[in-house]
Amino acid sequence: MRVISGRTRVAAVIGDPIEHSLSPELHNAAFAAAGLDWVYVAWPVAAGRAEAAVDAMRVSGLAGMSVTTPHKDAAAAAADERSAAVEALGAANCLVPIGDGRVRAENTDGAGFLAGLHDDAACDVTGRRLGLIGAGGAGRAIAQAAGAAGASAVVVVNRTAARARIAAELAGPVGVVGEPADLAGVDVVVNSTSVGMGDDDALPCDPALLHGGQVVVDIVYTPWETPWLAAVRGAGIEAHNGASMLVHQAAIAFTHWTGVPAPVDAMRAVIANRFS
Ligand code: ATR
Repeated sequence: MRVISGRTRVAAVIGDPIEHSLSPELHNAAFAAAGLDWVYVAWPVAAGRAEAAVDAMRVSGLAGMSVTTPHKDAAAAAADERSAAVEALGAANCLVPIGDGRVRAENTDGAGFLAGLHDDAACDVTGRRLGLIGAGGAGRAIAQAAGAAGASAVVVVNRTAARARIAAELAGPVGVVGEPADLAGVDVVVNSTSVGMGDDDALPCDPALLHGGQVVVDIVYTPWETPWLAAVRGAGIEAHNGASMLVHQAAIAFTHWTGVPAPVDAMRAVIANRFS
């Protein structure tokens, strides 16, 4: 039987609701695979109480904290230090204790997306054109990371133009707002909308706009293969789901907390067993 001792390190995720979070399963499997005496639990924290949860982290010796809805903005504000991504996005999904009760905020979503793209497609966005459908929290993180990583263009296509502009600006000078037809001219096409999780027939874009030679990613992983992904693959275009982004955003957090490389294969197995 697993022994929890006085030396066991504890990490937690805060959010509301939190009972269905995959993070405990993912991180506990990772700690076990890495042979670390760590445990990861879910803390239900109501809206408006993120600052109190960060204060709990300051005094309790909590060794790592993940942050999910509705606390990402408040956690970024409550931290003592912020990564460049957090400064740009105003949102954090990971808090790291840095000593003396101080906390650094990180956002691993964008870096997790880029690492997943590399893992799945051996693709690096540096010098490449990225087409991004959607401009929510995940989309903004991807736009910021792609711009910072040296993409030659980040073309944001979104239902609501004002949000598209915000995401495009996060990519820096290479960011522009585009139309669906512009997706034909990019190297990597990413769906960051929730279209595909629902029951309706909507698609993030017409698959006929896309062509072989492009790499397509739908960051959705439930369902494992969205109708859009199936259509894109059916047209012979390389396409991947959101499992790698999910795994890598967690893997980067794991390394921030533990200082060691994450057992990515073990983490990937948790997700594949659950959803594929
Ligand atoms: P997340 O934080 O997971 O990225 P979000 O902030 O709710 O989620 O963002 C959802 C994204 O999906 C947004 O870009 C949203 O478009 P709007 O900015 O116009 O709201 C997009 N989205 C959701 N449902 C959509 C639909 N039916 N058609 C087109 N876009 C949709």
